[in-house]
Amino acid sequence: MTETLTILGLESSCDDTAAAIVRHIPGSMPEILASVVEGQNDLHANFGGVVPEIAARAHVEKLDTCAEQALTQAKLGFSDLDAIAVTAGPGLIGGVLSGVMFAKGLCAGTGLPLVGVNHLAGHALTPRLTNQLAFPYLMLLVSGGHCQFLVVHAADEYTRLGGTIDDAPGEAFDKVARLLGLPQPGGPAVEQAAKSGEPMRFAFPRPLLDRPGCDMSFSGLKTAILRERDRLIAEHGGLRQTDRADVCASFQASVAAVFAEKTRRALSEYLALNPTQPAFAVAGGVAANSVIRASLETVCNEFDVPFAAPPLALCTDNAAMIAWAGLERFRAGYRNDMSLSARPRWPLDTRSPALLGSGKKGAKA
Ligand code: KG4
Ligand code: ZN
Repeated sequence: MTETLTILGLESSCDDTAAAIVRHIPGSMPEILASVVEGQNDLHANFGGVVPEIAARAHVEKLDTCAEQALTQAKLGFSDLDAIAVTAGPGLIGGVLSGVMFAKGLCAGTGLPLVGVNHLAGHALTPRLTNQLAFPYLMLLVSGGHCQFLVVHAADEYTRLGGTIDDAPGEAFDKVARLLGLPQPGGPAVEQAAKSGEPMRFAFPRPLLDRPGCDMSFSGLKTAILRERDRLIAEHGGLRQTDRADVCASFQASVAAVFAEKTRRALSEYLALNPTQPAFAVAGGVAANSVIRASLETVCNEFDVPFAAPPLALCTDNAAMIAWAGLERFRAGYRNDMSLSARPRWPLDTRSPALLGSGKKGAKA
């Protein structure tokens, strides 16, 4: 527990190739010495989603330069590192394999220990890197590929309280943007359009609020928006600017209302565990949405639970979260050998039944 640790993290499970170096001196805040993220948006732009084979090839090309850049930024060499952490799943298998093989090669060449990290654990442990949250805390992961409430008990112990049974919320934002002729990624475009819109004009569904528990669903909402769009086009001969803004605002209000109510339920379940320092954290690209963020913060205030939202660059896919999760695992004594395998699916909570849903950005837990 007392040792200073410096870890290189590698991430390649979806469409970002990333390398980062995190150092932790016990008793002080962890430090991100370098964080490099190479996105692939341009490569996939013509296909309406991530093409796994293209993603995997791009990772193979970029992993070594990203790692080199991270070491240069941190002004460190391999001899300054204690271990190499790599995302070993869940995700697009070609990308995960590229990262795992690259990390194994580095470990074989340098003699450094290898630590396989669950990508979702990377997201889930980020509030400890940024806010030093104490276990157990409640986490909502909301992105283009993830959507789940997790109680984080320890670096390797999670309880999933609920998640989406179909689309991830970011996917819903992206699809709604596509339906309305707005640019991708859809989240920021929909949020921007919604600013001048009327959130009460359309009563879009608030799926699964009538059912107990914390599971969510976003695919029906998207269908409701498709119908409304077609009705508006039929009525006015095209989509008027105000209609588009009102649809965006009403859609966003529905998503925020679903998150707010499900967060109330998740908080009640979590608080029943009597955590000593209760806290709620949100992460993932959708957490960038200011309306959703504000409504989650309001719910936390209702429950008198501190609200943490890591900076956006650490909410979206990055390797600092993998380095940090690897550091926590390494400190707890975990090591992997050359038999470490890439896992397309790898639920954090192995006791709960698998979720039905998945997102366009790879396989989910
Ligand atoms: O975490 P992320 O960068 O990547 C993964 O999905 O792993 O999340 C990207 C998703 C996209 O679907 C994007 O539309 C959504 O997050 N997003 C937003 C906003 N900014 C990004 N959704 C709603 N409002 C936003 N401001
Ligand atoms: Zn992710």
